[in-house]
Amino acid sequence: MRLRDDEKAMLDGERGAARQKAMDLLVRYANALGCEEFVDVTNVAGVPGQASLFLEQQFGHSGGYDARYSLYDLDSDGVAAIPEPAVPHACHLQGGTDPEAWPVLGHKPELAAIGRTSDQAAAEHGIRVLKTCTPYLAGFEARRGEHCAWMESSAVVYCNSVLGARTNTEGRESTSAAMLTGKIPNFGLHLDDGRVGTHLIEVDHPTESVMDFGLLGYWIGEQVQERIPVVRGLPGPVDLVRHKHFGAAAASSGGTELYHIVGQTPEAPTAEAAFAGRTPREKIRYGAAERRLSWELLNQTGRSRDVDYVMLGCPHAAFEQLSEAAQLLDGRRIHANCALWIFTSRAVKARADAAGLTQAIRDAGGQLMTDTCSAIGQAVPPGTKVVALDSAKQAHYLPAIMNIEAWFGTTRDCIDAALTGRWGGVPP
Ligand code: F3S
Repeated sequence: MRLRDDEKAMLDGERGAARQKAMDLLVRYANALGCEEFVDVTNVAGVPGQASLFLEQQFGHSGGYDARYSLYDLDSDGVAAIPEPAVPHACHLQGGTDPEAWPVLGHKPELAAIGRTSDQAAAEHGIRVLKTCTPYLAGFEARRGEHCAWMESSAVVYCNSVLGARTNTEGRESTSAAMLTGKIPNFGLHLDDGRVGTHLIEVDHPTESVMDFGLLGYWIGEQVQERIPVVRGLPGPVDLVRHKHFGAAAASSGGTELYHIVGQTPEAPTAEAAFAGRTPREKIRYGAAERRLSWELLNQTGRSRDVDYVMLGCPHAAFEQLSEAAQLLDGRRIHANCALWIFTSRAVKARADAAGLTQAIRDAGGQLMTDTCSAIGQAVPPGTKVVALDSAKQAHYLPAIMNIEAWFGTTRDCIDAALTGRWGGVPP
C-alpha cells in the first residue's frame, strides 16, 4: 500500500496503541480489497464499542468499553485505551433495545443495562449517541462530496443518493477503525468512476405513495442487485420519507448502495450526467406488471388475514409519519387482539412527545419506541403469528427472522389492521 506519513505514523504506534490497532485493521482490509490507498474521512456512523448479549455470550468477554472496542471492533487480543475519535463527526447508530421500554420488547434487564453503560461510554468518548438507522433525521448529516464511513444499509444508500456524500457499506470494525484514524480504503463509491449509473429504469406507472416507492425500490433492487440504477419518469419532488423507504427497499432486495433519480438527486441533473455520458448497460421498464410482481414478492408469506401485530417505523419513522399514524388512529382504540409498535429515533420521539403524538399513540393502545426495531431487536409481541408492515425492508427480513407471516401495504392498511385485527390490503 501507498501509506502517507500520518498513516505510517499511526501504523508504527506513534499515535497510541488503539490507533495503531485500528490502522493495522484497515491495512488488512485494504489489502483484502486490493486497494492501494486510503481516503481521509470526516464523518463516521457506526456502533463503536457497542455491547450486546450475543457478543458477551459468544465470546464470554466483558470488561468495559476499552476491552469491547479492542476485541470486537479492532480485532485485537490486547486491550488498548480507546481515545476520542479522530474525525469531527462521529455517531452511534441503532442498538438492540429501547432503554426504557425494554420490558415491552420482552428483553432481559441485562440487555438494557449493558446498553446503558455502552451508550454512556460512547458519549464520554465524544461520540453522538443517536441510536437510530436514520441519523439524518436526528441532526447528523453529511455534505455533498464528503468522504464518510457509514454502516447500516438504509442509511448508506440515503447518504450516497440523497445527500450526495460518499461511503461504501462499511461494517462495525471498519467504522470503528475509521473513527480512530480518519481513514478508509479509497475504493468503490469514494471514486467518481464508482458512482456512475449502470442501469436505466424507465418508470411507466404512477408512483406516489410511500408504499409505491417501497414497491419500486424493492423491484429495482431485485433487478440491479449491487449495481447503480438511474431512475427516470418519477414526478418530483420526491420527499425524504419516500427516499427513505425507496432506498431501504432497494438495499434489501439487491444491496443497492447508490441510486440516481433524474432531475432530483444531486449527481443526476440529467440522465446523461448520471451515466457520465456512457451508454446504460441495460434499459428496464417498470409498469403495472412489474409493480404487481413486487407486491407479490413482498406478500409471499401472508396467509391468514387475522393480524396480531402491526409494526411501523422501518427505517425509523420521521415526525411526519408519526403525525400521520396519530391522524389515522383518530382517537380510536386498536383491536384487543392486535398490538401496534412504532419505532423511531430518540430525537424524533422527543419532538413527538412535545407534540402530543406519543400520548395519542399510547391512548390508542400503541407503543412508540426508540433505538431498535423488531428485526434488529428480534422482538415481536408474544404469540405473534401475523404482522402487518408498511416497510418493504422489514417485510423482507422479519418473516424469516421471527418465523411469522407478513403483509405489506400502505400505512393506512396497517393502521386499519391495528384497529380491526384484520388485513384488508389488496394487490395494486
Ligand atoms: Fe432501521 Fe430496523 Fe429497519 S434498524 S432500517 S428499523 S430493520
